[in-house]
Amino acid sequence: MPSDLPTQERTIPDALWNSRFLRACRREPVDATPVWLMRQAGRYMSEYRSLRSKVSFLELCKNPELAAETTVFAAETLGVDAAILFADILLILEPLGFDLEFSKGEGPVIHNPVRSVGDLAGMEPLTDVSSLGYVYEAVRRIRAELPANIPLIGFAGAPFTLACYAIEGGSSRHYEKAKAFMYSDPGAWNALMTILTDSTARYLNAQVAAGAQAVQIFDSWVGALGPDDYRRFVQPHMRRLFSQIVPEVPAIHFGTDTATLLELQRDAGGTVIGLDWRVELDAGWERLGPEVAVQGNLDPVVLFAPLAEIGRQTRRILDQAAGRPGHIFNLGHGILPHTPVDHVRALVQMVHEFSAR
Ligand code: CP3
Repeated sequence: MPSDLPTQERTIPDALWNSRFLRACRREPVDATPVWLMRQAGRYMSEYRSLRSKVSFLELCKNPELAAETTVFAAETLGVDAAILFADILLILEPLGFDLEFSKGEGPVIHNPVRSVGDLAGMEPLTDVSSLGYVYEAVRRIRAELPANIPLIGFAGAPFTLACYAIEGGSSRHYEKAKAFMYSDPGAWNALMTILTDSTARYLNAQVAAGAQAVQIFDSWVGALGPDDYRRFVQPHMRRLFSQIVPEVPAIHFGTDTATLLELQRDAGGTVIGLDWRVELDAGWERLGPEVAVQGNLDPVVLFAPLAEIGRQTRRILDQAAGRPGHIFNLGHGILPHTPVDHVRALVQMVHEFSAR
C-alpha cells in the first residue's frame, strides 16, 4: 500500500490516515504501539450488562443508536487506538435466509441449518446488501461520534467460520457436520462458500463506504482444519474474498489455533495477520515475512492474572515485536465475559507506556 499517496487522492482525512493504528497497518513507524482488543465491548463491562438487561442482543445489534453508543463507550473507556463496530459475524446469515437466534446460555442457534445440497436451492449471494442497512447506519453514527484520530474497524465472519455455523446450526466442538458436508459434497460446499464469500465482500465494502477505515475478517474456527483441507476447501475462497475488498483499506486476517496455517493464510490475503498466543510473536512474524503487519497475541486468560504477570507478558510480546513497524497489540482471541475491567484498562496503558518511542 503506497504510504506516499498524495493527500488529495486519499479518501480519508489526515488525522485518521496518520493514526497509530493505520500507520501500523501500513508498517510505518509509530510513537507507541497501537492497541485495541477483540470483544472490547461486551459482558465484562457493567454498562454493557445493564444495557443488555433492557434489550436482547439482536435488538442491540439492530439499533444503530445503541450499537454506536456501545462501540464508542468501550473505545473511550479503555483508551484504545481503534474502535470496532458493535455487531456480530452471524447477522449476514439472516438476509441469506437463515433463522438466527441468540438464546440465553446456549449462544447462537440457527433453526434451519444447511444439511444437504437441497437446502441451498434458491440461495444466492446477496447482490443488494441493503438488508443490513442498520449496520451501515451504526457505522455512520460511530464515525461521527469517535474522536477524529481513532479509526473504526468494520468486520465480518470468514466464509469457513460462517459455513460452520450455517451447517452445524450453532457452536460446535468438532465441526463434524460441517466437515462431513465438505468431504462428501465438495460441489455443494463450494457453492455455499461462494455465496458466503461474495456476500461478505459486498457487506464489508458497504461498511467501508459508510465510514469504516479498516476491516477484520474473523476466521475464528479455521484452526479446526489441517493444512491440506485448508488449501483445498478454504484458501481459494479467502483469496477471492480479499481480492474483492476495496484495495486501499487494510484488511486484518484473523484466526485462532492457526500455528500450522499461517503461511497459507498469508498467501490467501490480508494486510495484517492475526497471531494467537500459541505461537511466539517473533517466530510467527518471521514465518510470515516482512510484507505483512501482525496483530496479537496475549492470551485473553492472562487478563485474569495479577497486574505484575500481565505486565511481564506484555513486555515479552513488545520485546518480540522489537519496535519493528507493523505490530498492532491485541489479544489472541476475544475478551472473556468475567475479565476484570481494571485489568483491561491497565493493559492498554502498559502497552502505550512500555512501547513509547
Ligand atoms: O467488541 C467487539 O469485538 C465487537 C463486537 C463483536 C461481537 N461478536 C459481539 C458479541 C464481534 C467482533 C463479534 C464476532 C463474533 N461473533 C465472532 C468472532 C470472534 C470470536 O470471538 O472468534 C463469533 C464466533 C461470533 C458468534 C457469536 N456471537 C457467539 C459464539 C456468541 C456467543 C458467545 C458468548 O460470548 O455468549 C455471540 C454473541 C455475542 N457477540 C456477544 C457479543 C457482545 C454476547 C452477547 C450477549 O450475551 O450480550
